[in-house]
Amino acid sequence: MVVFHTEAGLQAYVKGKRILGKTVGFSPTMGALHEGHMSLIEKSRATCDISVCSIFVNPTQFNESSDLDKYPRTVEKDLKMLEAAGCDAVILPSVKAVYPKGTRPTERFDLGFLTQPMEGAHRPGHFDGVVQVVKRLLEMVLPTHLFMGQKDFQQFSIIARLLQLINSEVKIVCCPIVREADGLAMSSRNVRLSAQDRKNALVLSSTLKQIKAQYPNGDLSALITAGMERMNAIEGVDVEYLEAAHQDTLRPVKRWADSSAIVLCTAARVGAVRLIDNVLIP
Ligand code: PAJ
Repeated sequence: MVVFHTEAGLQAYVKGKRILGKTVGFSPTMGALHEGHMSLIEKSRATCDISVCSIFVNPTQFNESSDLDKYPRTVEKDLKMLEAAGCDAVILPSVKAVYPKGTRPTERFDLGFLTQPMEGAHRPGHFDGVVQVVKRLLEMVLPTHLFMGQKDFQQFSIIARLLQLINSEVKIVCCPIVREADGLAMSSRNVRLSAQDRKNALVLSSTLKQIKAQYPNGDLSALITAGMERMNAIEGVDVEYLEAAHQDTLRPVKRWADSSAIVLCTAARVGAVRLIDNVLIP
């Protein structure tokens, strides 16, 4: 596995592959890698000739400075995992390398409603930072394919739309959520959960599963209200949202019959850690 720190080095490598007609899969990450991230590398390896990963804790997408400060950083371990997974190249750029002209965004994209609900409503500016960094990383890496996780469903939708808006030829691939054996969605932030919070955190996936199990019976809005109550009843759990939305538009869905492709999304604070999860229905 080749490790790059600069755009020039990586681009020479990628261009050398692309000129030979090889496909290049790119999986952007913020490090503190786990099996969820590894599933993107696996999918990339199964789909493309060459697999590239980036590890960059992007300061512009953190709306809370404490979250940025506490974001776990485990670069040595990450590199070992990537190597073992058969990743071909990784870039670990500095903030200066990603944002040579400073972190202030210079472009704006009209992503319509997609950035407004759920994470958009609860993390002001977050998606501006995500769009800014993914666009920039794509310029740096020059891939043919982009691998992103369903874990961040709204992020996936927004980046898919961004690719359309900029007429990009990059093909985006959505990789299913990888979970712990008990159902908790894998997340870099899980390591910050105390033992009790780790138990409490199960209520996110179990509530989503419980609501999905009712489909297409029962009143969706009532199930959501009951689900929120169930989650908030646990001491130390504070729900930010539990919402059903159309998978393609992210517009709210009130009744099962209103959409044939629903995504049920939630975000909650569990102790000091903010977690998200979702399920696709049916
Ligand atoms: P990060 O949270 O490190 O996630 C990197 C990629 O891994 C994202 O596409 C995310 O959806 C995927 N991922 C995380 N947990 C997963 C799980 N349990 N199962 C499947 N996929 C999972 O998302 C980001 O970083 C950043 O916003 C980034 C896109 C890198 C831009 O900075």
